[in-house]
Amino acid sequence: MRVPVLIINFKNYREGYGDRGLDICRYASRVSVEYGLDIYVAPPTLMLMRFIEHCGADIYVQHADPVTYGAYTGSIPVEALKDMGVKGVIINHSEKQLEVRQIIELVDKARQYGLVSVVCADTPVLGKIIALAGPTAIALEPPELIGSGIAVSRARPEIIVEGVKSIKSISRDIVVLAGAGISSRDDVEKALRLGSEGVLVASAIMKARDPGKVIEDFAQAMVNYSK
Ligand code: G3P
Repeated sequence: MRVPVLIINFKNYREGYGDRGLDICRYASRVSVEYGLDIYVAPPTLMLMRFIEHCGADIYVQHADPVTYGAYTGSIPVEALKDMGVKGVIINHSEKQLEVRQIIELVDKARQYGLVSVVCADTPVLGKIIALAGPTAIALEPPELIGSGIAVSRARPEIIVEGVKSIKSISRDIVVLAGAGISSRDDVEKALRLGSEGVLVASAIMKARDPGKVIEDFAQAMVNYSK
């Protein structure tokens, strides 16, 4: 995972489905190539195969279960995701929370099958505990700011500063991301300035009148900061 990185979580926004969702994914893929940035897309789970087949971006799943093929009704096996061409898995999003034991199992399975693991943590303390499992990345996301348009980098900068310090004290290899309320170039730049290595974003892109422009604005903020 090259940093800085942008991960777009489509959640289950209506705009993430069908051709409109594919268009957003294609914007992300174009901007990723144009700016030389890693931009990953996590579409609605029901759209995974269509995005993998018709969009060039690296596709992540929004949630998975620590199981493999077999009698696991309704589950999402990590091994099947790998076989489909999924590149990474978001784990423990605040809208899909797991027990620490399940988080550890999923991080291990993702590693076993060569998938990137991005684990969400709502506090720096939980981030430090999760870091012990050795995921690829940890996203610091205070739930109360998710979908609010009030960026964690503006309203709760200490979460990023303390989270980076806590996680990096366990392993400097773990990428630390910031998410929740990120809505402008300034929010992105501030998140990077506070020590994060990228952002996890949903509504600012998915609910935008021009999602492609928002993706490009965020990419420009990342490139400008990295100069
Ligand atoms: O996964 C990222 C998401 O939870 C952040 O949501 O809408 O505040 O960007 P949003």
